[in-house]
Amino acid sequence: MANRVPSGPEGVPFLGSSLQYADDPLGFMERVAREYGDVARIDVYGTEVYQVADPEAIRRVLVTNAENYRKPTLGGDEGLGGLLGDGLLTSDGEHWRRQRTVMQPSFYGTKLNEYGDIIVRDTTELADSFTDGEHTDIHAEMSQLTLRIVVESLLGSRIDGMERAIREALIEVGERFQPGPEGFVPEEVPTPRNVRYRRAVDRLDRILREIRRQHDYSGDEDDLLGTLLGEREQGNLTDESVRNEMMTLLLAGHDTTALTLTYAWYLLAKHPDVRREFHDELDAVVDGTPTVDDLADLDYLDEIVTETLRLYPPAYVVYRQANEADDLAGFHVPADTVVSTPQWVVHHDERFFDDPWEFRPERWTDEFRRELPQFAYFPFGGGPRKCIGDGFAMREAKLVLATLGKRFEFDLVSDTPLTLVPLVTLHPENPVEVTVKDR
Ligand code: HEM
Repeated sequence: MANRVPSGPEGVPFLGSSLQYADDPLGFMERVAREYGDVARIDVYGTEVYQVADPEAIRRVLVTNAENYRKPTLGGDEGLGGLLGDGLLTSDGEHWRRQRTVMQPSFYGTKLNEYGDIIVRDTTELADSFTDGEHTDIHAEMSQLTLRIVVESLLGSRIDGMERAIREALIEVGERFQPGPEGFVPEEVPTPRNVRYRRAVDRLDRILREIRRQHDYSGDEDDLLGTLLGEREQGNLTDESVRNEMMTLLLAGHDTTALTLTYAWYLLAKHPDVRREFHDELDAVVDGTPTVDDLADLDYLDEIVTETLRLYPPAYVVYRQANEADDLAGFHVPADTVVSTPQWVVHHDERFFDDPWEFRPERWTDEFRRELPQFAYFPFGGGPRKCIGDGFAMREAKLVLATLGKRFEFDLVSDTPLTLVPLVTLHPENPVEVTVKDR
């Protein structure tokens, strides 16, 4: 066993580094890695966290020694676990393993092709609603679109007209998980934020009940909700667990992809050369409306999405907690230590990416991909808890970009640079206003 103890910022009594962290979480994570190295110790909100920014050590946490690392219940019932309960993202142990096995088939093989048709159809409906010259918030548009897609493909319902209400409720839910001491005021304390949160969760629960009712009515067993209800029939899942999986899919299944799309449109608008090449490739490969089959020939599109996920990873950090003591990159990690593996830091590390803050899709040549250490780039995490929706999300992001990019380009309305706020996921602070232009 190694006996080196990682160093880190001193902090102040009781608060540790909480204030610096709350002030600028992303900058703080970068500074810690720069000043204290690949394994560093930080003290935020009363928890000691080991930040691990070495790809090989990250691989050990997420893959090779994954059984030693559980999902921490940060914030306890006040954290994400309080909202998603024993859903796939926040559960652990036997229940998680069983659920993962039950849900996995819905995310692979021919199922993905069927989702492709839904994705293109829903995106075409959005495209038909755009008019040349209109201004719109592309983040709001992408969130409503990805909500519609995930509900239709996995939960088997159309939510025409409800997207806005769901999105608004989800924004109020997300505010509660904003970093900062206020986030941990217990839910029963009726602060304005807590009251908004509770009401928003109630609204979402009503909508989920309605989706389930519609599904019961249609009796369709062919989608993921059908699979979950089948498990419920057989007594393997409670109603509460079905609700938790539905809430998990609603949240995890739309927000990150919407962010990827928002950032891709933003970056394309900021980089006219890349945008030109993006459109040229679409025009050369896609005849009319894109299909899943076209994706195999859209290499540059793949590079654009890959680079967007590197530069602005929607999941910017993943947490684990050690069951037993371990060694990471030569440092001793005591049992129960919370470990963070920050995509935000590693994806911008000069050791792996030249000019890491530049948007350069063309860096993703086959050779570059082959030589990159595996966990220098991990937008979907890794190991047994790797994102179950990774294939779905990549396909969705590419098909939405291709379908809209065939018909439009989007210019930014203002030159104001993007400001990012790390909530549960990495969000733009302000609406991303664009002008829709027919091509
Ligand atoms: C670009 C889009 C996406 C990104 C960047 C992303 C990222 C991630 C990451 C990093 C994890 C691992 C978290 C951890 O290890 O603690 C994860 C897990 C998960 N994601 Fe995604 N995700 C995306 C899209 C999706 C989609 C489309 C779905 C569903 C349709 C989804 C559902 C889930 C679920 C259920 C888990 C938990 C899996 C488990 O623990 O077994 N994600 N995602």
